[in-house]
Amino acid sequence: MRPTAPEPCVLVIFGAGGDLTKRLLAPSLYNLRRAKRLPEDFAVIGFARTDVGGEEGFRKKFSDDLKEFVGQDVDAGTVDWLTARLSYVRSPFDNQAGYEELKQKLAGKPQNYLFYLATAPEYFAEIPRQLHTAGLTEECGGKWRRVIVEKPFGRDLPSARKLNQDLAAILKESQIYRIDHYLGKETVQNIMVMRFGNSVFEPLWNRRYIDHVQITVAEKVGVETRGGYYETAGALRDMVPNHIMQLVSLAAMEPPNSFDANAVRTEQLKALQAIAPLKPEEVASGIAVRGQYGAGVVDGKPVPAYRDEPRVAKDSPVETFVAMKLVMDNWRWAGVPFYLRTGKRMAERTTEMTIQFRPAPFVLFRDTPVEQMGENSLVLQLQPNEGISLEVEAKVPGPEIQMKPVEMKFAYADYFGKSSNTGYETLLFDCMIGDQTLFKTAEAVEAGWAVVQPVLDEWAHKKPEVFPNYPAGSWGPECATELMARDGRRWRK
Ligand code: BG6
Repeated sequence: MRPTAPEPCVLVIFGAGGDLTKRLLAPSLYNLRRAKRLPEDFAVIGFARTDVGGEEGFRKKFSDDLKEFVGQDVDAGTVDWLTARLSYVRSPFDNQAGYEELKQKLAGKPQNYLFYLATAPEYFAEIPRQLHTAGLTEECGGKWRRVIVEKPFGRDLPSARKLNQDLAAILKESQIYRIDHYLGKETVQNIMVMRFGNSVFEPLWNRRYIDHVQITVAEKVGVETRGGYYETAGALRDMVPNHIMQLVSLAAMEPPNSFDANAVRTEQLKALQAIAPLKPEEVASGIAVRGQYGAGVVDGKPVPAYRDEPRVAKDSPVETFVAMKLVMDNWRWAGVPFYLRTGKRMAERTTEMTIQFRPAPFVLFRDTPVEQMGENSLVLQLQPNEGISLEVEAKVPGPEIQMKPVEMKFAYADYFGKSSNTGYETLLFDCMIGDQTLFKTAEAVEAGWAVVQPVLDEWAHKKPEVFPNYPAGSWGPECATELMARDGRRWRK
């Protein structure tokens, strides 16, 4: 049985002055408290370089942030409960004196520590090193010390390996929680429940019945204020080795023996490792394609080109869209391509996975107006309108046999209402109770990078031909349509 509340503990947030804390971590703590999922004996220590006006200033900021991001009907009692448990250390992340101060703040508090690295990635090895030197990472007397590492976990395969090694030199694997916020989404977790909690899907979930799988993660937003970061990342690094690989592994994995962290993560890893490495000549011939948005119209409003966004170079070669085709070398998926695409400033915001089934084996209705049988697809809509739909062919009423695709639909909101959760609640809670199922292993992180590394290598020395190549508010560049068309397929509208 999973515990319903964690043991007494302290959450230390490095980078507590940043966006992640105010938009997601603070509201998650609020929601956890409301759901009675935090221990009574609990504290939060912010650790950051920002001058927030001391401890009082931090409390005020935290409560203002809650009002902004939870909403005006925020419960005052819960805000007071949380702010009474806050303290703050203002220090650079590489200064030992700051960690000494942290130690003093920790004195007299519960001795289970959760360190959340919500900082720039260059501190992901440094902070654990400093914590280690200060004697704060050692687990003894049944007390736990855990570290949550945010993304980006490395910027390619070699740097991800190096970070794994640096962390392993200081921490046990059971202390490292590599977060991917996609795994906190209810609908992403539901992929597993749907596949393995029902008996109707799994018999069809293989190369015999499935033609291909497509995954779309489309965003309407541009890079917003994150031009500086995005110029060093691009859509491929930002979305594919992490979020999209999580979706691929959940769709492709074999049923685990149990819902235990090791069993689930072993199967996910096997799926990722079965992805056939892309060859440079395949990348060059368009098995992976990139795009960058130009000016366009989103929601009826004109929006600028990527190159005109703040902190973006006027001749930036950075991609804001990527599409690729992967195949898996294993028994279940041989010959079933997985097509992936993600982009910013697309026509709609949607994250969805389509399982496209093969057509019926022969046209029974040959002597009727039906010329071509439609194909059945199962669409898992992960956001924003979470739900599942199955497209099947139905007879159009009338004397002739005519067919039309119809949808059988399940919408989450109809059954369970709208959730105000951010997705981080589950992840924070799981970390506090020591359940690593929804966190990535070192091998899984590296397997994700291994998939994209040939593309990164190829693109590093080949400038994109024409950028921008899709207008903001569209479905991406022509080369992505061609990627599918070459195989006689198309992206789902
Ligand atoms: C983040 C990326 O990891 O995920 C962002 O850095 C992206 O660029 C975001 O916008 C998408 O997350 P979600 O939950 O909105 O799909």
